[in-house]
Amino acid sequence: MNNDFWDSRYGEEGFAYGMTPNTFLTTFADTFKAGEKVLVIGDGEGRNGVWLAEQGCSVVSVDSSKVGVEKAQNLATEKGVSIKAICADLNQWDWPESEFDFVVIIYVHFPPDVRELLHHKVVSTLKSGGQLIMESFTPDQLNYTSGGPPVLKMLYTAEMIKADFKLLEIQRLEECISELNEGKYHCGEAAVVRLIATKV
Ligand SMILES: C[S@@+](CC[C@H](N)C(=O)[O-])C[C@H]1O[C@@H](n2cnc3c(N)ncnc32)[C@H](O)[C@@H]1O
Repeated sequence: MNNDFWDSRYGEEGFAYGMTPNTFLTTFADTFKAGEKVLVIGDGEGRNGVWLAEQGCSVVSVDSSKVGVEKAQNLATEKGVSIKAICADLNQWDWPESEFDFVVIIYVHFPPDVRELLHHKVVSTLKSGGQLIMESFTPDQLNYTSGGPPVLKMLYTAEMIKADFKLLEIQRLEECISELNEGKYHCGEAAVVRLIATKV
């Protein structure tokens, strides 16, 4: 995988998506219990993984950008928490089986040839009873200027998500318009799909 794009973006001054966690994720603050194992895939500069560690979770944060992973590790140190920050391409990563209480996916868009396979890996890495929390951009996001991949094939509909995660019990799946205020690259109204689902 070519990481030049993300290494370059994260090499800029400041945090591309801010230092504060994604708003949808924070609505689950009361859900997390101390010591629960959370896998955050495509965690970038670590704003979500670090926040989860601040909630007392045991966090594994994976991203293929070396620059992002270093910033995530530094952010954790700065905030006085610890995360296991791994630099790996999720296509090559050795996903642990039935390991995590939660998997968190915030704006991580895979190409169509690997999306389904990687989403199946997400299911298998969850423990029985574990939950997936996910927010992604929909094709409607092409009508907005608030960020996200600028190509249709990288964007997800609720139908695609429902099919990819058909082995999970879906508690909530909705497409909606969200107001983003996440650093300079996620700013303004955005068309997103949100999922909460459990491995039964
Ligand atoms: C839009 S950024 C989102 C970062 C973070 N989730 C956030 O909300 O701040 C997408 C991230 O996914 C990561 N990513 C995309 N494909 C990946 C892959 N195959 N393996 C590991 N990381 C990947 C990129 O490196 C990038 O950091």
